[in-house]
Amino acid sequence: MANPYEIAHKQSIADPNGFWGAAAEDCHWYQKWNKVLDDTNEPFFRWFSGGQMNTCYNALDYHIDSGRGDQNAMIYDSPVTDTIKKFTYTQLRDEVARFAGALAARGVVKGDRVLIYMPMIPEAVIAMLASARIGAVHSVVFGGFAAKELAVRINDAKPRVIVTASCGIEVKRIIAYKPLLDKAIDMADFKPDYCIIKQRPMEPASMIDGRDLDWDDATAKAQPHDCVSVAATDPLYILYTSGTTGVPKGVVRDNGGHMVALKWTMGAVYNVQAGDVYWAASDVGWVVGHSYIVYGPLLKGCTTILFEGKPVGTPDAGVFWRVISEHNVKVMFTAPTAFRAIKREDPKAELMKNYDLSNFKALFLAGERLDPDTLKWAEKSLNIPVIDHWWQTETGWAIAGNCLGLHHFTVKEGSPTKAAPGWNLQVVDENTQPVGPGEIGALVAKLPLPPGTLPTLWNNDQGFLAAYLEEFPGYYKTADAGFIDAEGYVFVMSRTDDIINVAGHRLSTGAMEEVLADHPDVAECAVLGVEDKLKGQVPVGFLVLNAGVSRDSADIVGEVIQMVRERIGPVASFKTATVVKRLPKTRSGKILRGTIQKIADNTPYNVPATIDDPVILEEMEEALIGIGYAKAKKE
Ligand code: COA
Ligand code: AMP
Repeated sequence: MANPYEIAHKQSIADPNGFWGAAAEDCHWYQKWNKVLDDTNEPFFRWFSGGQMNTCYNALDYHIDSGRGDQNAMIYDSPVTDTIKKFTYTQLRDEVARFAGALAARGVVKGDRVLIYMPMIPEAVIAMLASARIGAVHSVVFGGFAAKELAVRINDAKPRVIVTASCGIEVKRIIAYKPLLDKAIDMADFKPDYCIIKQRPMEPASMIDGRDLDWDDATAKAQPHDCVSVAATDPLYILYTSGTTGVPKGVVRDNGGHMVALKWTMGAVYNVQAGDVYWAASDVGWVVGHSYIVYGPLLKGCTTILFEGKPVGTPDAGVFWRVISEHNVKVMFTAPTAFRAIKREDPKAELMKNYDLSNFKALFLAGERLDPDTLKWAEKSLNIPVIDHWWQTETGWAIAGNCLGLHHFTVKEGSPTKAAPGWNLQVVDENTQPVGPGEIGALVAKLPLPPGTLPTLWNNDQGFLAAYLEEFPGYYKTADAGFIDAEGYVFVMSRTDDIINVAGHRLSTGAMEEVLADHPDVAECAVLGVEDKLKGQVPVGFLVLNAGVSRDSADIVGEVIQMVRERIGPVASFKTATVVKRLPKTRSGKILRGTIQKIADNTPYNVPATIDDPVILEEMEEALIGIGYAKAKKE
């Protein structure tokens, strides 16, 4: 007999209207939709057309109206400031309503953009929900990005208001955010009307008269603002993510489909209910933070944890266990890299023994490939289900996973289990022809995508078509390669573009190459993601210098490292580069990235028949050995 997962998956594909229409009944609507799935403008599918609702109402007020006002909505746990602060649903709603009033008082109206550049403090979540409350579109930018990246996003989103904090705290280091924001606004062509700054006592910021407002002042004087009715198809947020060029893509999320899908995933994927404590240890600047620190858990009526710390060093590798036991966390979600960091410091999980983890029921991991060592270590130490699930900024929730709320499948190492309901996932060849079970190809999803996924890119329908829909007509291109086995288990192998995953952070090597190429002494360059025991992958740069450059290579390497830090940000973790005489290329001039990568990762490689000069590979080997990488021998 079919299990609940199989029933749900089958129905979601055969009858998406029935399936998602039923899920939508679990939400509050000012006005119900005319159509669940609106296919009148294919391939731009829309969900819940005609529906009117408000995401913030569903995430806060709805629970107060249903009697959960005194339940904790959010627990801010900040080992870096030694603070724990709890907000009930009523308290959080009141703070959000006041900040919504402060935004409205600065002229922010439905459809305006609000850019949020914040560390992991409650005001970040409050600003997101306050934007949603008045129908404004938020765009959160991760704090580890540099001023230039911020400027690019300001120019694209054109925010009326930017919200920031005076500083963030990276373990023990204070990172001043405000000077980065000032620099970004100087660089940007578009200028916001106002900046609202949360002053933190560790490093208060200087203010610019007429433009900058103090968060506390602005909220103290504000009138609480009620929820504004928006169309289900109106945008809730824009989240920029790395694309195949240095230009980031503004992934758009709508209100209605997002609300329905995320609330549904809390039960079906994560197996949590209203009242449960759910913790995503990520950052609000990433999609995991949007979906599972803020919206998912609050839409479901859970208590969410906002953690301002790191898995290690704040103060030790036991902090995750402390948070889980102290706040009664039932389900946790993080990236494998966090567990690798803990395992490295506390290989026998000794620190775990100091805490009562009896209420902890499941660990979910995503953001990068889950290596079998980390999976086994987590399973053995915790003795609870450890679930790998695969998703992307674009999709907003899992494409594939072991949907614990429906059926717990046996885990196969290296597989995020099966396509989630709503996803008609297939593997195709370059002619969009399906390949057989176990055969590697492009992982694609047959259109329409389920609700909650990106309807388009911000102000860039053509870019949306070109990036995702054109290569495989009728399908969404995930840009991941992999296979599906005979039992329907999905295996995600590698990206088919230049995206790398560094400590669960998505970065484009193309963007880094653009920076290196800008150095006056660099004639040509390549950046590759090579294997790293902690971060999964790290970028490594190869530089070919202009003829006649006689400066010390070490100086040039130091300069390009600094340039990447300044232009992209510390999050790029670009710390290694080397000068080479030339780059290995095919006769038609394409850099042999795959071969260099294999050499670096110590994987046997063949000398490609198309290479213009095989000696270059030996030079590459030497260069890699010089910077501590491997010495694989050709087959
Ligand atoms: N603001 C400013 N700088 C930031 C930042 C932020 N919000 N987040 C990271 N950085 C900086 C770090 O301080 C570091 O700077 P450094 O080069 O001067 O040391 C750099 O960006 C790289 O950060 P990170 O990749 O996080 O490495 P790390 O060495 O500080 O920590 C881990 C390693 C594994 C502990 C850490 O990556 C981690 O906790 N990962 C969890 C994964 C995660 O949250 N993924 C999100 C998607 S689920
Ligand atoms: P991001 O948009 O930052 O979430 O990154 C998405 C990319 O991360 C995917 O396209 C994959 O390449 C990778 N990824 C995310 N989750 C997994 C996973 N569980 N297994 C393998 N790769 C993953």
